[in-house]
Amino acid sequence: VTENQQLQPSAKRITLAITGASGAIYALKLLKNLVQYYDEVHLMISDAGRIVMATEAAINLPEAPKKIQLILTEYCGCDADIIRVYAKENWYSPVASGSAAPKQMVICPASMGCISAVATGASNSLMERAADVVLKERGQLIVLPREMPFSTIHLRNLLTLSEAGVTVMPAAPGFYANPQSIEDLADFVTARILNHLGLDNTLSENWGYQKT
Ligand SMILES: Cc1cc2nc3c(=O)[nH]c(=O)nc-3n(C[C@H](O)[C@H](O)[C@H](O)COP(=O)(O)O)c2cc1C
Repeated sequence: VTENQQLQPSAKRITLAITGASGAIYALKLLKNLVQYYDEVHLMISDAGRIVMATEAAINLPEAPKKIQLILTEYCGCDADIIRVYAKENWYSPVASGSAAPKQMVICPASMGCISAVATGASNSLMERAADVVLKERGQLIVLPREMPFSTIHLRNLLTLSEAGVTVMPAAPGFYANPQSIEDLADFVTARILNHLGLDNTLSENWGYQKT
């Protein structure tokens, strides 16, 4: 075991899962911010998530976790050991167990398929298991669903998650801050997620206050 694989109790740690819903820009903006606040960002991206990333952000992520880690570390311009990427069946990773998993997790964007799996406790992939672990450990789980319109099944699954204590934050930027660009819209959504993680930020205006 190398030094940076040992659990540092004082380290600030979070899990981010990126799935195949539209909105790669949200995932990238969130990741860029998380690496500034956290010592460890435990990351999983689904196969469909990689397809959406290529389609919407022109970032081609290979399958190998180590390669994804390198590409995203360079993209974020952060230290090498902050982003830790796991394969979808890496059951030996920290996020797979309540004894080691970070207490905070965000699924961004969250496909309706992933929402369904988390709502039923399927745990068939590492990211589904990671979400299940955060729920059973009574941690903080935030999901960013994106679909339009929602079916009754989607809404039921989202209600199930909400009743289990999950914060459902749909990819629905407000327009009251007079956004001038797609970046502004994505900043709005990212800022709200960071707020819910307890992270002060100036990405977007907080109602009643000026942006600094
Ligand atoms: C370009 C693209 C955009 C998609 N957008 C959405 C979406 O907005 N919401 C959604 O629930 N699924 C969307 N899908 C479908 C999901 O990717 C698909 O259901 C997939 O099985 C989800 O798997 P995952 O949860 O493992 O990522 C999209 C797929 C592609 C290729």
